Amino acid sequence: MFELNQDYLKLPGSYLFSTIGKKVAAFSAAHPDKKIIRLGIGDVTLPLAPAVIRALHEAVDEMGQAETFRGYAPDLGYDFLRNAIAQEYRSLNCDIAADEIFVSDGAKGDSANIQEIFAKESRIAVCDPVYPVYVDSNVMAGRTGTWNPDTQTWSDVIYMPCTGENGFVPELPKETPDLIYLCFPNNPTGGTLTKDELQVWVDYANKNGAVILFDAAYEAYISEPGVPHSIYACEGARTCAIELKSFSKNAGFTGLRLGYTVVPKELKRGNTAVHALWARRHGTKYNGAPYIVQRAGEAVLSPEGKKQTAEQVAYYMRNAGTIKKGLADAGFTVYGGVNSPYVWLKTPEGMSSWAFFDELLERLNIVGTPGSGFGPSGEGYFRLTGFGTYENTLEAIGRIRSF
Ligand code: MLT
Repeated sequence: MFELNQDYLKLPGSYLFSTIGKKVAAFSAAHPDKKIIRLGIGDVTLPLAPAVIRALHEAVDEMGQAETFRGYAPDLGYDFLRNAIAQEYRSLNCDIAADEIFVSDGAKGDSANIQEIFAKESRIAVCDPVYPVYVDSNVMAGRTGTWNPDTQTWSDVIYMPCTGENGFVPELPKETPDLIYLCFPNNPTGGTLTKDELQVWVDYANKNGAVILFDAAYEAYISEPGVPHSIYACEGARTCAIELKSFSKNAGFTGLRLGYTVVPKELKRGNTAVHALWARRHGTKYNGAPYIVQRAGEAVLSPEGKKQTAEQVAYYMRNAGTIKKGLADAGFTVYGGVNSPYVWLKTPEGMSSWAFFDELLERLNIVGTPGSGFGPSGEGYFRLTGFGTYENTLEAIGRIRSF
C-alpha cells in the first residue's frame, strides 16, 4: 500500500497566496457588485515592454520555419542569454562567467529547489518575516523539525527577526546555520542591507562554512546608493554565495516565466563544486526555459529593453511612493517603498494582521497581505504592493484614509 510523504503532511494550511486567493474569490462571489483593488500578491499589471513583444514575435516566427526551428533548449540556458546576463554582472563589476549562470523558469522554483543539493541535516536560517517558499520547501524536504502552532515556528529552523526595532536588518544568528536565506531588497518588509552590512554576512558565511542563498529578485527597485545590486559586489562572495534572480519584477515576466541562478565555481565542499551538483540537478529535472522566452529575456537586457523596463519600474515605484505617503499622512507607521515595490505598515490599534486583512477586504474592498503570513515577527504588520495600476493605487489610498 502506498504511503504519503509525511513531510508534506507537516505543512500547516495552504500556501499563503493560495489562502488569500481563496478568501478574495469567496468575497468576490458573495459581493459581485464590489470593485476589489488587489494590492496583495506582487503580481505586475503593466503589459510587456515593446522590445520584449518584438523579440517574442520574431522568435515565434523562427519557430515556424524549418531552418530556424528549435527543439529542446540547452538545459542550462542558451548562450545568447547567459552571455547577456554575464555582461550585466560585468557592468556591476562582479566577476561572474556565463557558464556560472543557470537559466530557469523563475526564481520561485529555483529558491524552492536549491535546498535539494544540500544535506538533509543542514540547518537553515531565515529572516522572520520571510518569503514563505524558503521555509515550506525545506518542510517538504524534511529539514525543519516539528511545528509549534503557539509560536508559529519550526523547531529546527533558525529565525532571525526583522522588525521595526532593528530596522528590518537581521542580526547574525547565535546558532551556526549551514544555509542562510537572505532576500534584499527584502520581500516582504522592503528593507535593504548596505554593502557593508552584506559584507558582514559574506564574511560570516566564509568563516563558518555556510552558504548564503541570496534572493535578488527586487534588485531593479534599488534607488539609493550604497545598496548592493548583487551579493557578488562583496569580497569573498564567490566562495559562499548563490544568487537567485528573476525577470518577473524588473520586466513583468510573472506570466512568461524566466529567471536564473548563479553558482560560482569556487563554491565547494572538499573537492566537489556545488556548481556540478546544481548542473546535475538541472540536467536531470529540467528541459530548459522556452527559446522564445529566453529571446524575450535577451531583449530585456538590450539598451532599448533596459530603458523601457526601467520606465515600468519607475511606474511601480511611483505607486509605492504614493502608498507610503498616503498612509503616512493618514497616521500609519510605514516602511519600505524606497528600494522596493513593497510598503510594509504597522496595523492600526494593535490589530492582528489577519484581522486587518479581513477589515480591509470587507469594508474597503482592498486586498493586501497579512504580515503574519510571512512569519511570527510579521504579526502586527501588513504588506501592500506598488504593482497595481496608478489609478487603482490612488483609489485604494483614498479608501484607506477613511479607515
Ligand atoms: C509575493 O507577492 O511575495 C511574490 O509575488 C510572490 C512570488 O514572487 O512568488
